[in-house]
Amino acid sequence: MNTTLLVEKNTQLGDFYSLNLHTWVGCDVKSFPEAKFAIEYLQQNPGIKLIISRAKINSEKTAEALADYISSMATPPKLIVLGQSSLDKKQVTHLPTGLDAKLLVQATAKNLGVTAQDMANKVVPEYFPIPSKLLLVINKSISNIYKQKEDSENYDLFFEKDKVFSSTGVKDLKEGHFDTLYLQRDERLKFVNTYNREVAASLEHNTLNEDEQIKASELTNELLQQRIATLGINSETIKLAQKNLIDMGKTAKKTPSLMNLLKRLMSNKTGYLFKHSQILMFVATHLMEQLDWGTPEQSDKLRFIAFFHDIALEDDIQAQIHSEEDLKNAQLPAEKKELVKAHAQLAAVLISKYPNAPIGAETILKQHHGTVNGLGFSDHFSQNISPMAIVFILSEDFVDELITVGKDFDIKRKIAQMREKYSTQRFQKIINVLESIAL
Ligand SMILES: [Fe+2]
Ligand SMILES: [Fe+2]
Repeated sequence: MNTTLLVEKNTQLGDFYSLNLHTWVGCDVKSFPEAKFAIEYLQQNPGIKLIISRAKINSEKTAEALADYISSMATPPKLIVLGQSSLDKKQVTHLPTGLDAKLLVQATAKNLGVTAQDMANKVVPEYFPIPSKLLLVINKSISNIYKQKEDSENYDLFFEKDKVFSSTGVKDLKEGHFDTLYLQRDERLKFVNTYNREVAASLEHNTLNEDEQIKASELTNELLQQRIATLGINSETIKLAQKNLIDMGKTAKKTPSLMNLLKRLMSNKTGYLFKHSQILMFVATHLMEQLDWGTPEQSDKLRFIAFFHDIALEDDIQAQIHSEEDLKNAQLPAEKKELVKAHAQLAAVLISKYPNAPIGAETILKQHHGTVNGLGFSDHFSQNISPMAIVFILSEDFVDELITVGKDFDIKRKIAQMREKYSTQRFQKIINVLESIAL
């Protein structure tokens, strides 16, 4: 097994990276909280091929210290740097964040000379080992977890899938009674993906850089969608939603411009569903600051709508359907088309159970594709569509174009097109405000 050194102070991030590298690349990861301990280890163990390091840990320029040390070695290990650093891109691999597990795995494999074929051909035991301490981060698993019987090749069920972990089992974990538990081989992708989302959801944003924050919010949203689909609105999903609503709201408020936000979302390869919700939260903030009837409460309300409007959808393909025609042409099975058709209504039903939702949120959610009952899509808005729903519909149209066109976004062209499409007075006022947004 390849021993890879990881220099990362945040133990949750460290565990996240270790599990992914162990599962997909077969790395044995040794973690260190700062550069000097990793350097000491290198002095004793010269055969290391790869170091993964956070760019900076507190005031220490960690990656630079490591690069400096390894440059004097006869056969220096490769270095992957997580976060911004001034190191030469020819000498190190830069990743904005390790929370993009796919990128981290790809970069690690490449640096170790492990091909995709090698990873696919890797012989995986039927019971796949995972460090038992990782389970302390979560309180239930979506896969069965097994424990190896003493002096035997057999395994007993330790935690049953989808059930909250037993307190005796958790006690065993806390007291470190065993280092390793097991998953069935075919369950590991599902387990690791959910674990990644759970760890991301538990991270405190003030300990993360901006790229990590974006990625953590996206993973948390994925977890929320997954949980709401099975649990609906309950204390667990409420807690998860409240945290991410606050975190994404902060990102929306602190970002200086639309293009700046778009660039960051794109460089972190976030998907459409998350990207459009996050940008909509930015646009909502701007609109409510500029509209004459906008108030901080209305601004909160619109961010709330931006956060929840597509919560019943499952993926980016579904979230990009914006008209009856898109829906008709979508290559989706009938039941998924039904889900897309009803997603606005479903969001409203879910939010009717959400405590302290802003007043009127249910109505706006239901009407966010222009129909009064929340079924399907409409371009012809009746008088019964609420003004806030109209603000949202216009914002989403604007944001969709921005995401589709990216850096070539031509605001003048888009605004002209919107003026033509939505010609009545009550739309024009809102379009004027969209035009004034800081690009
Ligand atoms: Fe949407
Ligand atoms: Fe929608």
